[in-house]
Amino acid sequence: MYRSDFPIFSTHPNLVYLDSASSSHKPQIVIDALSHFFASDYANIHRGSYDLSMESSLLYEKSKKAIAKKLYASSDSEIVFTYNATYAFNLIAQSLVKSGLLNRGDTVLLSKVEHHANIVPWQIIAAEYGIIIDWVDLHDDGTLDYDSLAEKLPYAKILSITGASNVTGEILDLNRVKEILDSLEQKPLYILDGSQRFPHMETDVVGYGIDFFVATGHKVMSDTGIGFYYGRKDILQKMDPIFCGGGAINSVTTSGYEPAGLPFRHEPGTPHIAGAVSLLAALEYIDLIWGFATIEKYEKELIEYALKLFATLPSSIRLLGSLSSENRLGVFSFVFDSHHPNDVAEILADDGICVRSGYHCTEPLHTALDVPASLRASLYLYNTKEDIDKLVDKLRSI
Ligand SMILES: Cc1ncc(COP(=O)(O)O)c(C=O)c1O
Repeated sequence: MYRSDFPIFSTHPNLVYLDSASSSHKPQIVIDALSHFFASDYANIHRGSYDLSMESSLLYEKSKKAIAKKLYASSDSEIVFTYNATYAFNLIAQSLVKSGLLNRGDTVLLSKVEHHANIVPWQIIAAEYGIIIDWVDLHDDGTLDYDSLAEKLPYAKILSITGASNVTGEILDLNRVKEILDSLEQKPLYILDGSQRFPHMETDVVGYGIDFFVATGHKVMSDTGIGFYYGRKDILQKMDPIFCGGGAINSVTTSGYEPAGLPFRHEPGTPHIAGAVSLLAALEYIDLIWGFATIEKYEKELIEYALKLFATLPSSIRLLGSLSSENRLGVFSFVFDSHHPNDVAEILADDGICVRSGYHCTEPLHTALDVPASLRASLYLYNTKEDIDKLVDKLRSI
């Protein structure tokens, strides 16, 4: 339906792009916004009193406002730009330790479905500062075990969990998590990995009691090298940044420095301004097509269609995760009795079908499910039923 908005499908008319969980393509509006920005508005931000710098700064700030709106955040000063989600997790983990909000012996609760970006930064501080990591278990199909979450949460100082899995496509039930959190006397800090969630739906961070929400721009139709995190204001204020320098300070003397206010104290140096502009354009595009609700509705139709077809595949091809379209993204990972996913991916690539094979940066998940690797096909708003037909036909023939 929205395919014609994306020039990549004109330059590659036979492209069957089923790898949007990895990175998404860009609509013309984003490409035009970048070109217009460099041709007409570019200058460094927050540093010049001339018109161009002000225009550039305005766009950068407008981008934060657009993100804050999609997250129902109280203020755009709660949005911190980073380079991607991985960078955001590293910053948050290190900064929480540095600020004394996470201390030796404290437990960080992760789930076994997490992306490495939400595992390794915690493992680094666990090794360096004596932080303990615990894991929420999964059911045999890879879906989250909410009983395990409820059992382990009372002992956690931090819950850092994905809002939607990049392998099983499971969307975290935020109501259920909130219910468990509300039943606790002492709530842990609640960090949501929104990397796969943000491209497909809004999330009311305040309503769900989320303290940090992390996402990455390139999965939501904008440029690479731009990501962000939302942080609740009172926590951001208590957090000492682990990096500092120009743009992040109010004053410097030979004996010390005074950090700037929020959110700039967490954004040292010249940021990826064009990335912020591209993210703004991507969010404006979503508004133009009547918002995330349109994307969700269209994708739901595709997901239901895909699941119906996948059910007709031979039993030697197994889909990980839930077989229901409820609480599910269009992210489908397969394992094969008699083929390695890498070989299947190569055969599909020969036909112009782009999927991904391997661990998808979720090795603990693959270990928990006792599968060596998987083949992932993932959908976005530019995919069609014909794309799914082509995938299924080819899988069947293999
Ligand atoms: C669930 C999840 N979290 C985090 C990331 C990391 O995103 P980035 O590589 O843009 O930092 C990804 C990327 O695939 C992801 O799927």
